[in-house]
Amino acid sequence: MLFDTHAHLTDEAFDGDRADVLHRIRENGVSLLLNAGSSVRSSEDSVKLAEEYDFIYASVGVHPEDCKDMTSNDLQKIAALAQNKKAVAVGEIGLDYHYDFTPRDVQKRHFSEQLELARELDLPVIIHDREAHGDTLEIVKKIKVQRGVFHCYSGSLEMAKELLGLGYLLSFTGVITFKNAARSHEIVKWLPDDKIMIETDSPYLSPEPLRGKRNDPGNVRLVAQKIAEIKGKTLQEIAALTMKNGREFFNI
Ligand code: NI
Repeated sequence: MLFDTHAHLTDEAFDGDRADVLHRIRENGVSLLLNAGSSVRSSEDSVKLAEEYDFIYASVGVHPEDCKDMTSNDLQKIAALAQNKKAVAVGEIGLDYHYDFTPRDVQKRHFSEQLELARELDLPVIIHDREAHGDTLEIVKKIKVQRGVFHCYSGSLEMAKELLGLGYLLSFTGVITFKNAARSHEIVKWLPDDKIMIETDSPYLSPEPLRGKRNDPGNVRLVAQKIAEIKGKTLQEIAALTMKNGREFFNI
């Protein structure tokens, strides 16, 4: 039984066959799924999907690429959605300097205010940090939350150590199956068993050998398999420990 702790099933990539995909992944052993919001609209959709399916939970939040025009009213909407009992985290929130769709100071402001919201609501946070390691670290050191995870972790081992010191978990996607993932392997090997989660980030980031195709949560098995290989454990052991970590983290 596997827990995909980060996917976007509300993405339009699944508009044609969402129910089929959800049926199939359940049959293939994905027994829990966290559907991540990335805008007000997708957070609303995320909560709706979670209300429809027992095994799906939602996070609500505005992603750095989508926060350019975020208003205080939008923050209120996220806060209201977070009251839903299937909404178990604030996210994904953070900083993304890869595309720079949103000015950096605007990203930092909305990241900070959503961290504060999570702290007020006593909810864990899901953090997106792409090519913004220094600023992200600075902000999470300043605004401390009860629980947090760096999704699709791409920082250094040194940063990982700092984050664990702050109480954060690290989560890994199909990117760890790519050829150039040596640094991530080193981190996975070092990371204590109770600090790791797994995810697909579907429909993005398909693992090898499916790279480039639409990803779906069933492929979280390939991520677990790779981690098992790196850590010298069995797939069953990794499935069990990431299930336990995910349930505790999201309080499910
Ligand atoms: Ni994502």
